[in-house]
Amino acid sequence: MENTHRAHRAPDDTGTSLAGKAALVTGGSRGIGAAVAVRLAAAGADVALTYLENEDAAATVVERIKAAGGRALAIRADAADPEATVAAVEEAAASFGRLDILVNNAGAFTVGPPEELGREAFDHTLAVNVRTPYLASRAAARHMTEDGRIISIGSNVATRTAFPGFALYALSKSALEGMTKGLARDLGPRGITVNLLVPGPTDTDSNPADGPSADTIRAFTALGAYATPEDIAATAHHLASPAARSLTGTSVHVDGGFTA
Ligand SMILES: NC(=O)c1ccc[n+]([C@@H]2O[C@H](COP(=O)([O-])OP(=O)(O)OC[C@H]3O[C@@H](n4cnc5c(N)ncnc54)[C@H](OP(=O)(O)O)[C@@H]3O)[C@@H](O)[C@H]2O)c1
Repeated sequence: MENTHRAHRAPDDTGTSLAGKAALVTGGSRGIGAAVAVRLAAAGADVALTYLENEDAAATVVERIKAAGGRALAIRADAADPEATVAAVEEAAASFGRLDILVNNAGAFTVGPPEELGREAFDHTLAVNVRTPYLASRAAARHMTEDGRIISIGSNVATRTAFPGFALYALSKSALEGMTKGLARDLGPRGITVNLLVPGPTDTDSNPADGPSADTIRAFTALGAYATPEDIAATAHHLASPAARSLTGTSVHVDGGFTA
């Protein structure tokens, strides 16, 4: 008898290939976003990335992906502008003919004493870290079919802060946890997963492993070490892959045990 059961299986043995898929990574010109863009492309995805002002760095990431045989596209889109990333979502979907993966990575790292961070800093931080991830997720979800993936980049200094000066940044990154859980419920019936990827100290321009506070920060981790952007990208790849189809509405910490 013919087996008519349609197994929900990945197209390859491990479920890690992203061949035939298209992704948008916000803030993909440097740091974690650049590593995620390169990693998703290496797994087979077409990748669009946004940047704020560093056109050369964005072009370098695009060239790196193309040199490895992939398709890539850089789009200038300020995440503080509520329309710009939504427009980038539309441009990516139009260019690639589909959109399967959104990585909400661009972030405003606003830290300092509350007496120095008032309404303007609040509005900007919330615009970049919360409003745009929400609006971009809505826009991207409209293009996604089954196995769509929304991954937002949170922070180890959100639900725990460890240092003074992080109230604004922490409150904005904490909001992504609620957004992730809510959208996971909204989009789960369509087979789209929504997760929060929570880095700890990661060696980037924003938080260099040889910076003035690096030893203090490093001491808060269980491993006593910074992660590399590629360490974060490896988990982003897993979350984006068919193999992670049952993983949704949750936070995955890649923080060296910072929150242990
Ligand atoms: N590094 C860490 O230790 C750490 C820890 C926890 C969480 N995170 C989170 O990880 C994410 C990436 O951080 P990172 O350390 O990789 O940062 P990064 O190295 O400073 O890179 C920032 C990237 O985001 C882009 N960007 C910044 N503001 C933007 C805006 N308003 N609109 C569009 N793009 C913008 C930059 O573009 P340009 O090149 O054009 O400036 C660049 O591509 C952030 O959400 C951050 O909060 C980082």
